[in-house]
Amino acid sequence: VTQVEQTLENYRRILEISKQLNSNLEYRTLLHQIVTIVVEILNVEASSIMLLDPGSGELRFEIASNMKAHETENIAVPLEKSIAGWIVTHGEPRVIKDVAQEPIHFRQVDKEMHFKTRNLLGVPLITHDKVIGVLQAVNKRGENGFTSEDINQLTILASQAAVAIENARLFQQSDFIAEIVHELRTPLAALKASTSLLRRDDLDAERRNQVLRLVDEETDRLIALSTDFLDLARLESGRIGLVFGKVSLEELVSDCVAIVQPQSDAKDISITLDLPEIVINGDKTKLKQVLLNLLTNAIKYNRHQGRIHISAASHDGDMVRIEVSDSGYGISSEHLPSLFRKFYRVPEHQNRASGTGLGLAISKSIVELHGGAIWVHSIAEKGSIFSFTVPVFS
Ligand SMILES: Nc1ncnc2c1ncn2[C@@H]1O[C@H](COP(=O)(O)OP(=O)(O)O)[C@@H](O)[C@H]1O
Ligand SMILES: [Mg+2]
Repeated sequence: VTQVEQTLENYRRILEISKQLNSNLEYRTLLHQIVTIVVEILNVEASSIMLLDPGSGELRFEIASNMKAHETENIAVPLEKSIAGWIVTHGEPRVIKDVAQEPIHFRQVDKEMHFKTRNLLGVPLITHDKVIGVLQAVNKRGENGFTSEDINQLTILASQAAVAIENARLFQQSDFIAEIVHELRTPLAALKASTSLLRRDDLDAERRNQVLRLVDEETDRLIALSTDFLDLARLESGRIGLVFGKVSLEELVSDCVAIVQPQSDAKDISITLDLPEIVINGDKTKLKQVLLNLLTNAIKYNRHQGRIHISAASHDGDMVRIEVSDSGYGISSEHLPSLFRKFYRVPEHQNRASGTGLGLAISKSIVELHGGAIWVHSIAEKGSIFSFTVPVFS
């Protein structure tokens, strides 16, 4: 095969991907095909896509040809002092012939991936004039290093990856909008029915009061839904930044406990604390929202005279882990994987307390924007422990 024939064949395969962009091929499959093709046609050992996480300002692996998704999940690459970060901030391709000679190479990733990067080519992923990440080709085989043809081909593949990512984000948005509209219909239908009822003059006073109470409840539900929708949409669009600052853990918790006190008193639920003196580096208003949601859940899904305990401990050196445990209804294991999904509510709980099913999704977004994680342990009929981590101020 001549050089020209090989180049033509490469472009033919790149074209193949463009056709699939408009088919209903699944997002991850498409990204997987892109990194696989990079490995083959650029003749490299590995290829990866990293995306900018607007909250933490770090890069995170979306896919890597040589790794499984769960293996790359927690690897973050800072924008400063990394080659990928350089490509994102400058918006230009970059070839590194010998990584060992490169002072800004972020060596941590190789360590975590059990991989040795010798040389690399990276190009920015761009949508709407904004750099959203990078596509990298790592360890060129042979002696000659990356060519300008390699840069051209990787740039085209990067624009295809960018389209796939953009499409996936738009789909997610329209799914969310469809769900929102669906959720709004139930209370709106109830309100509509109530107004027709209230117009009748044969309605006795007691029945009229009943209907008015329903109107009141359904309006509350609409207000709660709109607030939660807005919060989540803002968080997910990445348009609101967090305002980081020093937050005293003790203050944060006691503020939140004071707010939920009337609710816990009404069910005669005790709240106990065990908190070390720690200063968090975070957005106080947002962190309050997380803790308030966990606390209201611990009250809502708890029995009369139940218990709630809030504790905290240092986690992995630079994080603090905050835990809210309750003696409530608990959650059976089949529901646990879905708990942090938008609108998900455990079916058995739905007539025990009102809610939107968005609180935990919002909490997860906020915690992740802080660079932390949130998880749950629970035993049905015994109780639950919700834990999350946030950075310590140092
Ligand atoms: N502490 C808890 N104990 C038992 N179940 C819980 C607890 N916290 C959350 N859940 C379950 O998770 C679901 C989702 O929680 P969330 O997103 O806060 O929505 P909401 O509180 O509006 O129902 C709840 O509907 C409930 O079924
Ligand atoms: Mg909730």
